Amino acid sequence: MISDRLAIAEDAARLAGALLRDRLGTDLHARAKDISTNLVTEADTASETLIRQVIASELPEEAVLGEEQGEGAGLGGRRWIVDPLDGTTNYAHGYRCFCVSIAYEEDGVLQLGVVYDPMAGEMFRARRGKGADCNGRALQVSDCRHLRDALLVTGFPAHDVSKPLANLGPFADFMRQAQALRRDGSAALDLCYVAAGRMDGFWEPGLHAWDIAAGALIVEEAGGRTSDYRGGPLVIDGEQIVASNGRIHDDMLGILRPHA
Ligand code: IPD
Ligand code: CA
Ligand code: CA
Repeated sequence: MISDRLAIAEDAARLAGALLRDRLGTDLHARAKDISTNLVTEADTASETLIRQVIASELPEEAVLGEEQGEGAGLGGRRWIVDPLDGTTNYAHGYRCFCVSIAYEEDGVLQLGVVYDPMAGEMFRARRGKGADCNGRALQVSDCRHLRDALLVTGFPAHDVSKPLANLGPFADFMRQAQALRRDGSAALDLCYVAAGRMDGFWEPGLHAWDIAAGALIVEEAGGRTSDYRGGPLVIDGEQIVASNGRIHDDMLGILRPHA
């Protein structure tokens, strides 16, 4: 049952979050994965191993796609999608903006997502069709109706040198039209902040499924909207995401469509 899986996801996220919190500021042995901006630390790997152990101890036959250890085979269209540490660069610098993100899908449809911020002690959760909450309080996107009043957040992908630069055009356009922009370094938390009404919209190119799967469902279940840059349905490994409170979505697309 999905509710059992939600409990498993929460358990795994809490344990992994505690591990990250405990290791923060210790010797992390950060190293570059492919290019110098794309980091991995021992904490990323340890966190993913722990999450895999928790899932496997309850549901040994289910596939897990994790950022650091790839995809394991599973049965029946059921798959977990795990980012064991979203915000690695922040983490490696001791900047306390990072989280654990765990989603679960059936036949390509996201069913649940949890994002845990161990420093703030915030557990964001959503189940398809059942709403979203943070530490038990229902989440609701903001009421902001105009870009000029909107606080927007984005990111610059770390794993490909050309992609961050490609986001400078939209960044400049939004800077002219929105109230303010932020770049905080954890896409999963950016999405949860949109769901919580702390931010009004988020966009980013070049992200992977593990960065956004849980957060996108949390936004949708909090009453928000997600899409690609053209306004089509979000594809979690499609490397383009726009997420908003829904009210400013079309205005965001107006800026992003030419960059699709
Ligand atoms: C990164 C974060 C960041 C985003 C990068 C991602 P990681 O994930 O989500 O906000 O801008 O594109 O790669 O590498 O810290 O898990
Ligand atoms: Ca990530
Ligand atoms: Ca990661």
